[in-house]
Amino acid sequence: MEPVIDARGLTHEYPDGTTAIRDVDVAIDPGERVAIVGANGSGKSTLQLALGGLVEPSAGDVTYFGETTDAEVVRERLSVLLQDPEDYLFNTTVREDIEYGPAQLGLPRERAERRVAALADELGLADLLDRPPFRLSGGEKQRAAVASVFAFDPDVLLLDEPFGAVDAHYRERIRDLVTGHDGTVVLFTPSLDAVPEIADRVIVVGRDGTIAADAAARDVLTDRELLAETGLRPPVTVQLFEGLLTDDEIPLTTADARAYLRDVL
Ligand SMILES: Nc1ncnc2c1ncn2[C@@H]1O[C@H](COP(=O)(O)OP(=O)(O)OP(=O)(O)O)[C@@H](O)[C@H]1O
Ligand SMILES: [Mg+2]
Repeated sequence: MEPVIDARGLTHEYPDGTTAIRDVDVAIDPGERVAIVGANGSGKSTLQLALGGLVEPSAGDVTYFGETTDAEVVRERLSVLLQDPEDYLFNTTVREDIEYGPAQLGLPRERAERRVAALADELGLADLLDRPPFRLSGGEKQRAAVASVFAFDPDVLLLDEPFGAVDAHYRERIRDLVTGHDGTVVLFTPSLDAVPEIADRVIVVGRDGTIAADAAARDVLTDRELLAETGLRPPVTVQLFEGLLTDDEIPLTTADARAYLRDVL
């Protein structure tokens, strides 16, 4: 199975001399759900830009779908949600922003409209479609940016903190979109709480921009020493059951935790 993204020896230094990522190797296989986690400033967003082909790394290289570097193929099959939703919304209306993807892909008008309507409905944007994006609240902007990325219906999604500004209701809607995505998902986040629900594998970026761990979600999420060293906290479920259950037994998702408690209480 060819990896969808295969990055070797990625290092990126910004023009002011800040080295954000150092000698990073990451290979993502088709259909994998991976979380790339790390403290603020560890280099996640820089890594996302490098993996998404949006910055040329200072060293190392990235190939896609088994060796291709063809920008056209990458553009059609891989979609990137940047951390700042403002980077996403550049048309005159929210509708045009969400329609941009399907238009780029040349989808027939009717299919494009259906896709936009379904996403607008899911993300509570139906009444906001004719507004200019800059007249949205922070959470609404984020939802609009998420909608515009999902509108591409790409094979591979690279999502940088998609939950940042949204409330609990839309956090669940976005989580459902992510878990329901029929393809590969890479989530970049500094908070581990949403990770168990989304990812099977977790990559930790250390404070120095190197990869500190790359393992099964349970192994990383219960490794308190590793998490403390890298400036992270275990998910709430792990904190809750700490010392009460062994690391192999701790329910990682809230749904599993609830089911466990229901059984014992
Ligand atoms: N345009 C830039 N020029 C110079 N340094 C930058 C630039 N963007 C980011 N950096 C620096 O690179 C390092 C990594 O930043 P990056 O944005 O990748 O971190 P991050 O892990 O995404 O953080 P956060 O959790 O806050 O989003 C930080 O030290 C940051 O200050
Ligand atoms: Mg970031």
